[in-house]
Parts: sequence; structure tokens; C-alpha cells
Amino acid sequence: MPCDLDSLKRELQKLCCDAQESSQQLKRVADLPEAKARFLGRKGAFGPVMRLLGQLSPEERPAAGELINSAKSKVDGCFCEAKMRLEQAALEAKLQEGRVDVTMPGRRLLPGGMHPVQRVLDEVTDLLGELGFELVSGPEVETEHYNFDLLNMPADHPARDMQDTFFVEGGLVLRTQTSPMQVRTMEKRQPPVRVMAPGKVFRCDFDATHSPTFHQLEGLWIDRDVTMADLKGILTYFLRRLFGEDREVRFRPSFFPFTEPSVEVDVRNDAGNWMEVLGAGMVHPQVLRNVGYDPEQVQGFAFGMGIDRLAMVRYRITDIRALFENDQRFLRQF
Ligand code: PHE
Repeated sequence: MPCDLDSLKRELQKLCCDAQESSQQLKRVADLPEAKARFLGRKGAFGPVMRLLGQLSPEERPAAGELINSAKSKVDGCFCEAKMRLEQAALEAKLQEGRVDVTMPGRRLLPGGMHPVQRVLDEVTDLLGELGFELVSGPEVETEHYNFDLLNMPADHPARDMQDTFFVEGGLVLRTQTSPMQVRTMEKRQPPVRVMAPGKVFRCDFDATHSPTFHQLEGLWIDRDVTMADLKGILTYFLRRLFGEDREVRFRPSFFPFTEPSVEVDVRNDAGNWMEVLGAGMVHPQVLRNVGYDPEQVQGFAFGMGIDRLAMVRYRITDIRALFENDQRFLRQF
């Protein structure tokens, strides 16, 4: 190695040129540290140059030191510049890639809506509320005792088969009807009683007019001198308010173990077919005795209406399953 200032200068110039070239050729930020270390690192190209210092005369050393330092900062500057250039390029590439196409149509927000079953239920409870029925509620997982026994359906009663029950272990069932709320309410209150109990009910049943989960609303009115005429009057008034004055309604004799006499009530739908929407009757004296009421003193009527059936008549829906499939195309119509 030569050891005078001039040759040192030339050596440094060459280093600077090499560094410039090397930094300009860099393509990725990730390669930068290694390239830079080749010059400025511990084993970099400046190492041998520093060693040259020792061979210079003491007078020359300060000037040489200065030369080396300024060369070093030049080289450092080259790599700083390269770093900025590469980072800028990377940013631009990223922006390019994630570019938003402002001409693309936006994603449509679907407005929420009230489910048809909830709409009808709200109407029904408003109407019955006007008639003085108070809202109560009870458990969906019910004891067999409340769901059947206290409603005059002992274990061996054939009517227990009418309702294909989902059994839960330990004497529990998914309630097959809202009627246990009659008993639960009467146990807690003294007459006069006038309540409505809407809720989900469950039966092992599945076709166009039966869903395994559906909605009922139980009504109960107990007082002195409540008669079958009241039952008929109230329910007729109610159905006409709900469906309009000219809607055809019919009462058919029927049987329920917990009412006597019993009726079923049909409404004619827009297709001209009769559709059963509720069961009702005078509360059976045995049920009254079961809750400690005296059937000689008080009587009354109960009814259980199918809210989903009412919604089907109201909105001309022919398949009950449509109500529970959550198909947006169906629901959007309401
Ligand atoms: N619980 C009966 C059913 O589910 C309906 C009903 C309620 C009948 C109240 C009479 C009185 O079918």
C-alpha cells in the first residue's frame, strides 16, 4: 500500500465512487445493511485505510484523518440517500397495489326490519292490552307437572300424545303450549285475573303448517260470572280488530283436557281456506281446584293463539317454515 497523502486521497475517492455505485444499484431495503457494512462495517473497506494512518508522518496525520472522516460521511450519505429512495419506492408500490377504485359500486347496507311474527305479536298484545289483559311470562323449559298434570293431563291421559313432546331429563320438557302460564299465574294471584302470556313453544312436528318451534299467546280471564258468551264476544271482537270487520271467523266445538266446553277458532284466509288460529274454552273446574280456586265462586275462559298462524293469514304466507329460515329475500318484504 502506498503511504502518502495523495495516494490516500485517490484511495478514498475510489472508495466513494464504489460506495455510490453500490448504493445506487440496490433494489431492496433489506439488502442495504449488508452493502453498507461492506464499506463502513468493522471488516469493511475503510479498515485497511485506517491502518494506513499509522504509516503517515505525524504532520500528515491530522489532514489525513479529516480526509478519511469526510469520505466516511460521504459514503454514509450515499447509503442514506439509497435508503430514502428505496423506502419511497416501497411505499409507492404498496399504494399502487391497494389502490381504491372509486368508480366501483358500494356495498349496499340492508336496513333492519321488524320480523313479521314480532309485528303481529306487538299488534296482538296492544289490542289485548286495550281490553285489560296484563302481560306475564314464564319458562320455556317447563316441568311436566305444569305442562301437563296441573292442566288435567295426567301421565296416562291420551291427550298427552297429541302433543309430540321434546323431553328434557329430570321431569322437564320444552313446553308444548303456553297453557302452563294459566296455572302459574293463578297460583300467584287471586281473582279477578286477566293476563296474556306470549312465548315460544316446542313440538316434534315439521311440515308446511307446523314448525318445531312456534309462538303462542295464552290469554286467561277469571272472575265471577265470566261465561262462554264473554269468550265468544271477546275473541270475535279481537279477531275483527286484527283482520278487519268483514273477515270470516268460525267457532268449532273441540276438546282440550283443561277447558270445558272447548272450541277451536278458524279464520278464512285470502285463498279462501279456513285456517285454525286459536284454541279456547271455559277453564275446567279441576284446573281451578288445582290452584285452590273455588269453581262455585269463580270461572273464566282461556285461549291459546298461534301467533305464527296469525302472521300467515295477515301476510298471506303459505309455508310456516318461511318465517324461520331467515332468508333475506323473504324478510325484506316486510
Ligand atoms: N294449549 C292449547 C294448544 O296448544 C290451546 C288452548 C289454550 C286451548 C287455552 C284452550 C285454552 O293447542
